[in-house]
Amino acid sequence: METVKRTKIKALLASEPGVEVLAKGWVRTKRGNKQVKFIALNDGSTINNIQIVANTENFDEELLKRVTTGASLAVKGQLVASVGSGQAVEIQATEIEVLGDCDPMRFPLQKKDTTLEYLRSVAHMRLRTNTFGAVLRIRNAMAYAIHTFFNQKGFVYLHTPLITESDAEGAGDMFQVTTLDLKNIPLDKKGNVDFSKDFFGKKTSLTVSGQLEGELGATAVGEIYTFGPTFRAENSNTPRHLAEFWMIEPEMAFYDLKDNMELAEEFVKYLVKYALDNCMDDLKFLNDKYDDGLIERMQGVIGIPFQHVTYTQAVEILENAVANGVKFEYPVHWGTDFQSEHERYLVEKHFQKPVILTDFPKDIKAFYMKQNEDGRTVRGMDVLFPKIGEIIGGSEREASLEKLEARIEELGMSRKNLEWYIDTRRYGTVPHSGFGLGFERLLLFVTGMANIRDVIPFPRTPKNAEF
Ligand code: 4AD
Ligand code: MG
Repeated sequence: METVKRTKIKALLASEPGVEVLAKGWVRTKRGNKQVKFIALNDGSTINNIQIVANTENFDEELLKRVTTGASLAVKGQLVASVGSGQAVEIQATEIEVLGDCDPMRFPLQKKDTTLEYLRSVAHMRLRTNTFGAVLRIRNAMAYAIHTFFNQKGFVYLHTPLITESDAEGAGDMFQVTTLDLKNIPLDKKGNVDFSKDFFGKKTSLTVSGQLEGELGATAVGEIYTFGPTFRAENSNTPRHLAEFWMIEPEMAFYDLKDNMELAEEFVKYLVKYALDNCMDDLKFLNDKYDDGLIERMQGVIGIPFQHVTYTQAVEILENAVANGVKFEYPVHWGTDFQSEHERYLVEKHFQKPVILTDFPKDIKAFYMKQNEDGRTVRGMDVLFPKIGEIIGGSEREASLEKLEARIEELGMSRKNLEWYIDTRRYGTVPHSGFGLGFERLLLFVTGMANIRDVIPFPRTPKNAEF
């Protein structure tokens, strides 16, 4: 077998016929008759299978019986022009080796349609479906495009810690990290948990954002981005929330809110265009199977300027909609945080394009956002997308030491844990801005999948951390 070097199926399908080849992969289907068997083989390099043609007279009957859906094979043969429709080339097999049998009776993925929900419980099969092959390849392409985008702009990839003592978003929904014996927790004189006995000698958690550390990077080397796992213990069992997700957080010195919005728009457009330019086979599959508006929606987003609107203007639009009979599940008035139904109304019904919302009430946003002159709003921005709602959240940061300290005080936050951060405003503070893109929210948009659990290989959600 190994006298010929193995070629991946993606390359084989793009090759000229007339050469001897070796392919390896998993059987998707086998059909045929007494004389000839057609085996569809897939190795994950592309959504497309290569067809193996095996004349039964050349092969042991027992061997061909072992060629079942899910079994792994090595196949040597001649790459020939295909007479059948649907593929340019196929392999006329001369040697077949079954590398791993797959018991057809116990294989959970027969041709019957298996729900995405069911698949989440069979980890090994799930990733081998066409759907997850497509999702995983697009996920990989997006990760590559993210690094490319920022590296072309001279941003530094900054690795921020996963274990931290600070609550960046001030939302209090963090997973605690401890090595204390939960059956025998040490207490101090006041009866509180004595964290000095814990591994780090203080209370620590998994990070909800790398932003605060990112700001230290930006005020040192100018422009940075982070790209890593992020953890939130919010009990939101929705199709858009994960307890462990990936976030990309660029942070830029000398950027104001306008610069920040421009970068965010350029960034997401670059990513969507990259997917259209590089992942079309997978996109077509997903478009046909799950969401026939997918490719059109992606093309729509890169073709038009995003709509800018302030929170206050958006509230007026939504209140008018309600007055005209539009029904929302959650009430909306100045001061409320928008729900995804409100965001989607603005994007899909009112403006019919992506929206950048700015200047939110300070009470619904984090402590670090730059305060506006009006004393009640801050220079935050949310980028809202069709079908998704919020895909990016960011802001210009409060650069003034006095204002930042006053806000921390006002919110009753612990200053002790934040002194290292506040120092950036003491020693050469600069205007600066940044944002966070939820990687899986982006993937929802560029795969058309409806549930965020289906764009990450091993989803973590409330009451679920299997595998
Ligand atoms: O809006 P968020 O909370 O902003 C921040 O964390 C800032 N520190 C970002 C920054 O300015 N550097 O989160 C940013 C994005 C959201 O817009 C959303 O796309 C995603 O992260 N996100 C989640 N994705 C999946 N599951 C969750 N539970 C998410 N929470 C936020
Ligand atoms: Mg947000």
